[in-house]
Amino acid sequence: MGIIIRATTAPGIEDVAYEEGSLLLRRAGFGPAAVSEAAAALGLPGVVVWELEPKAAVEEVRATDPLRRARSLFHVAVHVAEIEWDGTSLMSLLEGVARIELAEMRDTESFRVSCSRVGTHDFQSPDVEREWGSILQERYATAVDLEGYALHVKADIVGARAFCGYQLTGRKGLDRRYPWVYHPRVTLRTPIAYAMLVIAGYADRPQALHDPFCGSGTILLEAAGVASERGLRLPPLSGGDRDLRAVEGARLNLKAAGVPGVDVRQIDARELAATLPPRSLSFIVTNPPFGIRLAKGLNLFSLYDGLLDSAGRVLKPRGVLALLVGRRRGVFNKVLRGHPQFALEHVRIIEMGGVYAALYLLRRSS
Ligand SMILES: C[S@@+](CC[C@H](N)C(=O)[O-])C[C@H]1O[C@@H](n2cnc3c(N)ncnc32)[C@H](O)[C@@H]1O
Repeated sequence: MGIIIRATTAPGIEDVAYEEGSLLLRRAGFGPAAVSEAAAALGLPGVVVWELEPKAAVEEVRATDPLRRARSLFHVAVHVAEIEWDGTSLMSLLEGVARIELAEMRDTESFRVSCSRVGTHDFQSPDVEREWGSILQERYATAVDLEGYALHVKADIVGARAFCGYQLTGRKGLDRRYPWVYHPRVTLRTPIAYAMLVIAGYADRPQALHDPFCGSGTILLEAAGVASERGLRLPPLSGGDRDLRAVEGARLNLKAAGVPGVDVRQIDARELAATLPPRSLSFIVTNPPFGIRLAKGLNLFSLYDGLLDSAGRVLKPRGVLALLVGRRRGVFNKVLRGHPQFALEHVRIIEMGGVYAALYLLRRSS
């Protein structure tokens, strides 16, 4: 079996992540090979697995870090082993990790252990980090260095399953890629913004795009980033938000990220036609308020109805409206039935930090 790379993404966009990762791995000369049954068995929601050509060496993969520019991923690790344990206790987990040989530990100057955990266990992540760290320190006679570590040993515990590997990403994760000056509590995570742009068709063919609920500007930042990374000319990008703080914040974030020329204004999403020329946009990609906190007291029927009405005016024929809809999908479906100018092309469920949203892709009729 070749080297296995295991990466995390948002549940619901694993296909986008797999495709992006495969492209980056191919460009770096690492295959990837078809995923074997054993490697596929490591797949869980939000986990993507690649198996590299057998010729690749772990040092080479660690040195080149081929997925460092991935937009769809949070963290990336070279998989070492699945840990055999009872699924609950720290003692059993530590016995399991003690049986695993971590060959890279032999030549490293320093290391750290970190743990990410989903589910209920008799212990916390810092317990794993501390205990496993001291086992490794003793066994390989290597120093722990929490900041300047040369090797990052990672435990990923998901329910009763536990994996260990060498993490390639830093402690921050690939999703934290912009210098947000304005960072409200609820922002879209960048891998989801990226997946929306891919699924909408923007990533392959960037053209005039607007985000009418732009908040801190994540979708606009990502739209600019995708176009420039692919060496394509930046298309006209614009955003709006009803809240002046968000408008000013998005402008600051775009400036801090070095993205020029994005027009962000204080507009109600239901009034797009008042500021944008008719049939001027190829894409509207957006994340309207939903969830208990954000949509509290909102008349979602009127919001969706007004959005579809104004989007229908400013989108070009065959233009795309991609939006996230929360748990009130019944309301959205009812609104959609009243807007025959839009054809439903795709729906998928995406998990966003414990909240499930549906991504709808609608196309304006010609
Ligand atoms: C879920 S947040 C968007 C988050 C954004 N994608 C980000 O990453 O920061 C929804 C945004 O919609 C704005 N909003 C709510 N109702 C609106 C309306 N009628 N028109 C325009 N913006 C509105 C809110 O002020 C909020 O910033």
